[in-house]
This record gives sequence, C-alpha cells and structure tokens, in this order.
Amino acid sequence: MERFFLMFEFYPLGSSPTKIHSSRAAFLLTVMGSSLFCYVMLIPAFLRLSESLTGKIPLGSDLSASSGLSWVSENGTFALGFTSSSSGDGVILAIRYAGLPDDQTIVWSPNRDSPVSRDAVVRLDQTGNLQLLDRDTLMWASNTTGLGVEFVFMSDSGNLLLCTANSSQPVAWESFRHPSDTLLPGQPLTASLELTSSKSQFGYYCLKMLQQQTSLSLALTYILPEADSTNTNFSYWSSPQISNATGDVVAMLDQFGSFSITYGRSSAGMVYVHKNDSGNSSVSVLRRITIEEDGNLHLYEWNSSRDGKGGWESQWLAVSNQCQVAGICGSGLCTLDGSSGGAKCRNLSMLMPSMANSGDCRAERKMEAFPQTRYYFSGDSTIANYSNLTMASECSAYCLSDCDCVASVYEIVEDETYCWSLSSMVFGGLQDPSSTLYVKVAENETNGESGKEMDQQVHPAVVIELFFHCCCVSVFSYCSFACFCGLPQRGERSSKTELSPVT
Ligand SMILES: *[C@@H]1O[C@H](CO)[C@@H](O)[C@H](O)[C@H]1NC(C)=O
Ligand SMILES: *[C@@H]1O[C@H](CO)[C@@H](O)[C@H](O)[C@H]1NC(C)=O
Ligand SMILES: *[C@@H]1O[C@H](CO)[C@@H](O)[C@H](O)[C@H]1NC(C)=O
Ligand SMILES: *[C@@H]1O[C@H](CO)[C@@H](O)[C@H](O)[C@H]1NC(C)=O
Ligand SMILES: *[C@@H]1O[C@H](CO)[C@@H](O)[C@H](O)[C@H]1NC(C)=O
Ligand SMILES: *[C@@H]1O[C@H](CO)[C@@H](O)[C@H](O)[C@H]1NC(C)=O
Ligand SMILES: *[C@@H]1O[C@H](CO)[C@@H](O)[C@H](O)[C@H]1NC(C)=O
Ligand SMILES: *[C@@H]1O[C@H](CO)[C@@H](O)[C@H](O)[C@H]1NC(C)=O
Ligand SMILES: *[C@@H]1O[C@H](CO)[C@@H](O)[C@H](O)[C@H]1NC(C)=O
Ligand SMILES: *[C@@H]1O[C@H](CO)[C@@H](O)[C@H](O)[C@H]1NC(C)=O
Ligand SMILES: *[C@@H]1O[C@H](CO)[C@@H](O)[C@H](O)[C@H]1NC(C)=O
Ligand SMILES: *[C@@H]1O[C@H](CO)[C@@H](O)[C@H](O)[C@H]1NC(C)=O
Repeated sequence: MERFFLMFEFYPLGSSPTKIHSSRAAFLLTVMGSSLFCYVMLIPAFLRLSESLTGKIPLGSDLSASSGLSWVSENGTFALGFTSSSSGDGVILAIRYAGLPDDQTIVWSPNRDSPVSRDAVVRLDQTGNLQLLDRDTLMWASNTTGLGVEFVFMSDSGNLLLCTANSSQPVAWESFRHPSDTLLPGQPLTASLELTSSKSQFGYYCLKMLQQQTSLSLALTYILPEADSTNTNFSYWSSPQISNATGDVVAMLDQFGSFSITYGRSSAGMVYVHKNDSGNSSVSVLRRITIEEDGNLHLYEWNSSRDGKGGWESQWLAVSNQCQVAGICGSGLCTLDGSSGGAKCRNLSMLMPSMANSGDCRAERKMEAFPQTRYYFSGDSTIANYSNLTMASECSAYCLSDCDCVASVYEIVEDETYCWSLSSMVFGGLQDPSSTLYVKVAENETNGESGKEMDQQVHPAVVIELFFHCCCVSVFSYCSFACFCGLPQRGERSSKTELSPVT
C-alpha cells in the first residue's frame, strides 16, 4: 500500500476536484511517466481488480466485455464500456452516464444495431487504430492507423477522442463526429452529420440538415427498411428555415437547454429550434437530445428527485401530434387515442402495385373511402394531380380507371380542391378533416369496421413542457479542437473546456 500512495505523490492532484477512479490508471500513468518505471514491477496483483480507468489511455490498452471495466471521464460523468443490448442478446460497446448507475441510457455506440458476444474486446492497437473485436472478428474500427494516435480519452462532455501529439491535428477521430441517436450539450450537428434512431421492422428515423432549393432546415425523415427504390424517405418535420446560408451550418444543444442552429459567416446568424428562456437555468443539469424509435426528437433533462431515484424528463418534443410522424404505423393509419394521447394504429388492406396492375386491372377492383384521412406521399409516388374537381368521387374514379394507381387523396385547401393519384402507399396516414383517402382493394376485400381492422397501441403520450418567456440567453461557441489532447498531465487541470460560454 505504501508504494501505491507513493505514486500519487509523484502526480499531485493539487486543487483539482478530480478523483482518480482507479489505481490502475495511476499505474498506466506511471508507465507513461517513465521515470517511475521501476514501480511497474512492484504493482500488487489486487490492483487488477479495480473498476475502471480514467485519463489518457495509451496504445496497447484494451477493455473486455467480460471484465465489466470501463474507461471513465475525469469527473466521472461518462464512461465507455460494454452493456447489454436492448434486444437482450449480446452486448454493445457504448458511452453511458457513469454517474447514474441504474440508468441504461446510451449516448453513443458503434455497434448499436449489431450486438457482439461477451468475448468481445475493444482495443487501441499499437498503430493507433481503435478496434472492436468479437472472437478475433473485426466488428468495427476507427480506421485511424497511421494518423499518429497516441492515446484514447473519454471527455467529461461525453466525447470519445483519439488524440495525437501533432498540435496542428490533435484529434484523429472523435465520437462527436460519428453520432448515434443522441446529441449532447456542446456537440455540433453539422450539415454532414445525422442522428439516426434504432432500426425497426418499419424502418428508422433520421435528423439532419436538409437542403431545399433556396433554403435549408433541420428535418426529421422517415426512411423505409428496404431502400431499393427512389421512393424511400419522407420528411415530416422541419425546423425554422434558414435562407441561403453561407458558411457552416451547425445545430447544437447548449448548456442552458436551448437547441439552436447557427449559420453564416462567423456564425453570425442563429435560429432557435427550442429556446429555454426561463431564467438562469441550472447549468450542471444533465441534458440530451435523442431521436427515439417513435420518430420524435426529445429534449431530456435529468431530474435527480424523480421517483426517489432520479429519471429523465422530456422537456420538449419536436412533433407534438405523434400521428404526424410518418411511418409511425408503418403504411397504416394513425389516430390519436383521446384518453392516453398516444397513437393508435390500423393496418390497411390494399392492393400492392404489382397486383393492382395485374390481370384485368380494372375488373374486380373497387375504391374504399376513408373520410377525414390524409396520406403521406412523396413526389416519386405521384402519378397525376387534378385540381378543381367538382366532386370528391371523381378523385376516386380517376384512380379506379388507372391501372398504376393504388390510392388517391382528395384535399380541400383554401377553397380549392386537389386530387392526387398514387402509385404506392408506404409512409402512412393520419386524421385530417380536410382530406379523404381512397384505397384500391379487391372487390371481396374490406377495411371497414366489421372487416380486418387491427388495432395496436404504440408509444404512450409524453408530457410536454414548453417555455416561451423572453429574455437573453447566452450563446454557445464550440471549438472543435478544444480537446484535452496535448493538455498537461492529469491533475494540472486546464481552464480550457470544451464549451466556453460567450455572451
Ligand atoms: C473503417 O473502414 C471500413 C472498411 O473500409 C468501413 O467499412 C468502416 O465503415 C470504417 N469505419 C469508420 C468508423 O469509418
Ligand atoms: C464534469 O465536467 C463537465 C464538463 O466540464 C461539467 O459540465 C460537469 O458539470 C462536470 N460534472 C461533475 C459531476 O463535476
Ligand atoms: C501534423 O498534421 C498536419 C495536418 O494534418 C500534417 O500536415 C503534418 O504532417 C503532421 N505532422 C506530423 C509530425 O505528423
Ligand atoms: C436565395 O438564392 C436563390 C438562388 O440561389 C435566389 O433566387 C433567392 O432570391 C435567394 N433568396 C434570398 C432571400 O436571398
Ligand atoms: C431521401 O431520398 C432522396 C432521394 O433518394 C435522397 O437524395 C435524400 O438524401 C434522402 N434523404 C435522407 C434524409 O435520407
Ligand atoms: C440571473 O443571474 C443574474 C446574475 O447572474 C441575476 O442578476 C438575475 O436576477 C438572474 N435571473 C433570474 C431569473 O434568476
Ligand atoms: C429551462 O430552464 C429552467 C430553469 O431556468 C429549467 O428548470 C428547465 O428545466 C429548463 N428547460 C429545459 C428544456 O432545459
Ligand atoms: C423533479 O421531480 C420531482 C418529483 O417528481 C418534481 O416535484 C420536480 O418538480 C421535478 N423538477 C423539475 C425541475 O422538473
Ligand atoms: C400538379 O402536377 C403538375 C405537373 O403535372 C405540377 O406542375 C404541379 O406543381 C402539380 N401540383 C401540385 C399541387 O402538386
Ligand atoms: C381553379 O383553380 C385555380 C387555381 O389553381 C383558381 O384560380 C380558380 O379560381 C379555380 N376555379 C374554380 C372554379 O374553383
Ligand atoms: C378475395 O378473392 C381472392 C381470389 O379471388 C382470394 O385469394 C382472397 O382470399 C379473397 N379475399 C377475401 C378476404 O375473401
Ligand atoms: C400490420 O402490418 C404489419 C406490417 O405489414 C404487420 O407486421 C403487423 O403484424 C400488422 N398488424 C396487425 C395487428 O395485424
């Protein structure tokens, strides 16, 4: 034990509040500070039982799933380690909140949708490549061989960094530039990045900047499971538009709980996607923005007094009507359940495009009407549009007479009527008083109440709290190289952090 304390003396922590999470960390730092190399031989065996490593983790280090160890950030907020996958079989490598032991939230994972066995190991090899290996099969790699990587570092802001000694390129790779489904405070979502939800049988959801003809916005998009045609995605929500932005466009959650997009030269322009103006909110509260499998973007805040043990509270939702999320019921129809506020799904029986077009394509077909129902479609699935129809039934008749048509949507917008003939039905429908949906079915089929109605409940309602007060909010600047790479040895804490508030 004496030797153990000796090592600490050589690395005085000074006034730093940082805790050494592991005596093994001290061990590795000792190796790095080679003047103490002699102590390596004297490390008692029990130190191997320590729980985790923090600080700079050197080349040759590894972390095995079976050990239960993790690489923890300096102040213990985040850790990289293995955790059970949500599907239950196997484990995934993930960054989690180390200070919330009972919380299963994952903020980043390289293999979220492809779990590995408990024999898996993550290793920073001697070439500086971070690899996830499952029984010698390479499952994922950072591909940073030859970039001069010297160590891996788990930052207190939740960023996993592969750092070099090259001051002009201190970061060879960082998890903030390869996001999963979550954006942490200070993490920039640039035009080249996207958040994606876990994949389900119905497809998945994505948040990214979408370039339109003369403007740009952040959009939520539903992406079909099989991406074999051009008609594969539908954007159902977008942030305020930014017209003709020049320069970098970056969306970021700040430490006060506001979500904004900065753009233009020197990031002079800014729009809020969600603004929290309710005074000087507590900066130390944990927050995150996550795109969930329900297709919604949630801003969560940790409430340590919730249910006695703490829990995440949803503070803001991008889409308040869950049915407005495309694909939430697959290709079926969504209705809001009045009592719970959740979404209720109804499958449709309809003719697939191939069937609609087969045989005598006009015989033994009929159109079934769904009043007060809108259907999401893209330009690619539009065969024709008709305006100023005198009767809704004409819209139905146009589709019935067109072999390629599987459905039509009749709509009244500002006293003008529109009718669209569709060649596919994939993005789902929802209640809307100004629309009628007509679906082509076989003559003996029915979607009616007595027919094949299928109800299934999805995603319970989420309590939303919105804050619309007005006062000034500090704006955040992000310095992409403000990493701990090249900073002094642990213990000498730098005033430089990844986030520096600017007023
Ligand atoms: C690393 O390279 C492999 C093979 O080129 C590629 O499949 C993989 O996506 C790359 N990994 C990253 C993190 O870019
Ligand atoms: C850990 O560090 C981060 C980033 O500097 C800071 O926001 C957070 O409040 C710190 N947490 C604790 C528990 O000290
Ligand atoms: C440091 O990085 C810069 C930019 O990538 C590169 O041009 C330079 O060669 C590197 N220096 C060393 C010593 O690797
Ligand atoms: C944006 O650019 C387009 C063409 O690039 C132009 O037609 C339009 O007037 C511009 N809009 C604004 C607000 O500058
Ligand atoms: C949606 O599909 C279009 C056309 O295939 C493609 O250009 C676009 O990148 C896709 N959008 C997303 C968010 O995947
Ligand atoms: C916010 O903080 C400033 C000083 O830091 C204080 O003057 C002001 O009253 C605070 N406002 C609220 C709403 O707490
Ligand atoms: C907004 O700030 C208030 C306190 O000022 C805080 O209680 C609340 O959780 C914040 N909301 C969000 C969405 O961060
Ligand atoms: C946290 O949860 C407790 C208990 O549910 C609640 O009383 C309190 O208002 C919550 N705090 C915030 C800031 O929402
Ligand atoms: C209808 O189709 C025509 C081309 O056939 C197109 O120019 C027009 O924009 C479409 N109208 C609507 C409302 O989609
Ligand atoms: C038909 O639509 C056009 C615009 O598309 C509108 O100007 C016109 O008034 C409409 N006519 C009738 C009879 O509704
Ligand atoms: C409708 O008829 C077709 C063949 O004509 C048959 O395959 C199908 O099962 C029938 N559907 C129902 C619901 O009776
Ligand atoms: C609805 O359709 C989906 C996809 O076609 C299917 O997986 C699901 O089982 C159906 N739901 C019901 C209740 O039949």
